[in-house]
Amino acid sequence: MLLTAEDFRRAARRRLPRLFFDYIEGAAGDEVTAAANAAAFGRIRLQPRALRDVAGRSTAAQFLGHRFAAPLMLGPVGSLGMFRAGAEAAAIRVAHRAGIPICLSAFAMTAPEDLPEPPQPGDGWQLYVLRDRGRTAAMVDRVASAGFSTLAVTVDTAVSGLRERDIRNGLRRLSRPGPAMLADLLAHPRWLADLAAVWPPRMGLARGWPEAGPGYLEQAAFLAGQIDPSFGPAGLEWLRGRWKGRLVVKGVLHPADARLCADLGADAVVVSNHGGRQLDGVTPAVEALPGIVAAVAGRVEVLLDGGVRRGTDVVKARALGAAACLLGRTQAFALAAAGEAGLAALLQHMQAEIDAAVALMGETKPGALGPEHLAPAGTEAG
Ligand SMILES: Cc1cc2nc3c(=O)[nH]c(=O)nc-3n(C[C@H](O)[C@H](O)[C@H](O)COP(=O)(O)O)c2cc1C
Repeated sequence: MLLTAEDFRRAARRRLPRLFFDYIEGAAGDEVTAAANAAAFGRIRLQPRALRDVAGRSTAAQFLGHRFAAPLMLGPVGSLGMFRAGAEAAAIRVAHRAGIPICLSAFAMTAPEDLPEPPQPGDGWQLYVLRDRGRTAAMVDRVASAGFSTLAVTVDTAVSGLRERDIRNGLRRLSRPGPAMLADLLAHPRWLADLAAVWPPRMGLARGWPEAGPGYLEQAAFLAGQIDPSFGPAGLEWLRGRWKGRLVVKGVLHPADARLCADLGADAVVVSNHGGRQLDGVTPAVEALPGIVAAVAGRVEVLLDGGVRRGTDVVKARALGAAACLLGRTQAFALAAAGEAGLAALLQHMQAEIDAAVALMGETKPGALGPEHLAPAGTEAG
């Protein structure tokens, strides 16, 4: 039975060509930060209270200006549709049915205009600011016209992280596979048959960009090559002026950067190290969280991603001041392994874990959790 993040990870490893499994799971350098993100949750100790009335409970949470069924969001994951045909549309449907928001990746295969269902309040699109501000503005306008209320600008990708699994696997040569890659692809016939139905893939945002090339891989490489490494405070100010909806800055780890985002009019920051996929050796996201929550002092909402695998991780992040957590790899593995039903099952289980943890902590809603619900490792409450 597929229930937990780890179940879906294992099932995805069986179903996907090695090249794609490694692309999802892999990270920069020695992958120390990627592992540390999850391990850091394991070191946090909950401090439950007994003898409390927890009969009337809800996992509902308020963030991004709306009330959702749980403090959870599906984060932006590029290339989802390469892991299973129609995975992005499936993710949108699952999020809507589960009552949580989703943020589509700039690298999505779906175009903002082609969603299977209209965006719900809180749903977002992730943006990279490009050197060409005219092209960036056009993307922003398309996202607004499609009805999204949230724009998440990713700021931890001035250059692409060096992910050695992808270099060794030759991910960039996917359109011209050599014998080893072909053998890997052909050894996964269920994946191959599924993808054949939607081949050749395209990148939604690249519609109308003939210079980006004809297929997804060229288009994604084109977009990645356009990301502006000089994007700074003036760029963020420009974006704030251009986008009238909720602006989220994703990829903040330093309290001073979070304060800057607040000063420049962002509505929320995502404390994130991109799942360890960019700079290896940086602080685990959840360890950076308390400093950022203190630094912004409620001026912007603080979300978190990186290493979130269980409902109890969400509860811990909530106790440290995160309004909600985003799911990266776990979302991709659930979709790759078991499609729409898989992701729905994963979210249902995580929500049940959140409910049980909140109750067992002696509270009735995630919003009631705070630092007083945590104990330092190895100590007992006084
Ligand atoms: C396969 C994959 C693709 C990703 N693509 C994007 C992307 O296009 N834009 C972005 O801002 N973050 C992207 N991310 C980063 C996630 O949004 C998120 O920050 C990270 O995965 C969180 O860590 P976790 O995987 O441990 O949950 C991607 C992550 C993965 C695993």
